[in-house]
Amino acid sequence: MKPTPVFDVFIDYRKRLFTKNLVKGVQVYGEKLVAEKGTEFREWNVRRSKLAAAIEKGCPNIFLRPGQRVLYLGCSTGTTVSHVSDLVGKNGLVFALDFAPRVMREMVFVAMDRGNIAPILGDANQPATYQDRVSPVDIVYQDVAQRNQVSVFLKNIDMYLKPEGYALLAVKARSIDVTRKPKGIFAEVKAELERTLTIVDFRTLDPLEKDHAFFICKKK
Ligand SMILES: C[S@@+](CC[C@H](N)C(=O)[O-])C[C@H]1O[C@@H](n2cnc3c(N)ncnc32)[C@H](O)[C@@H]1O
Repeated sequence: MKPTPVFDVFIDYRKRLFTKNLVKGVQVYGEKLVAEKGTEFREWNVRRSKLAAAIEKGCPNIFLRPGQRVLYLGCSTGTTVSHVSDLVGKNGLVFALDFAPRVMREMVFVAMDRGNIAPILGDANQPATYQDRVSPVDIVYQDVAQRNQVSVFLKNIDMYLKPEGYALLAVKARSIDVTRKPKGIFAEVKAELERTLTIVDFRTLDPLEKDHAFFICKKK
């Protein structure tokens, strides 16, 4: 296993991505586990995670570090959250939020195994409704595939991101407007984000995730 430019993300001889497994022997979504010199690695499937796809597309830094607090909006059943949980480690904490009870049920089981995930059933569009359960965070991550995804992202940054924090956004162009070309939508999202944030990285995720882009931003 070799390190990549991305902190604590590794590749094997076939150039597949891996994180160090926080809970030895436990898989989250049927991914491959590989033991090497006393460390267990978990394959990070670039077709099942937009964050992994952004790394695969050349993003050199995702700004996740051990011990951080992360607010993850749109956690679903926890595929990407589990790798974020590996990266922040046992001293970090991931607030994993979704509004769909069906996926949260599975998310809760993943959280029980890992110990550094706080599952929250809530609507990312209404950040004030979960302020009793979330403290200020180092990273806001969002993947909600909604028409108003940019305003949801900005509201949560405003409320929860620490001044020096980073904010990571997966954008699904078709959720914003199915009739328009993704390129134009990404340009509009960029302009909207740049009003209050500095964009430090931008990747389109094709062909891994069709009509998706990934933005990494910092508070100005
Ligand atoms: C594309 S899936 C997320 C996949 C996940 N991020 C991963 O990589 O493993 C989008 C999720 O966002 C959730 N979602 C959409 N709108 C939301 C909202 N307003 N508040 C909370 N969750 C929302 C959906 O229920 C769905 O589970």
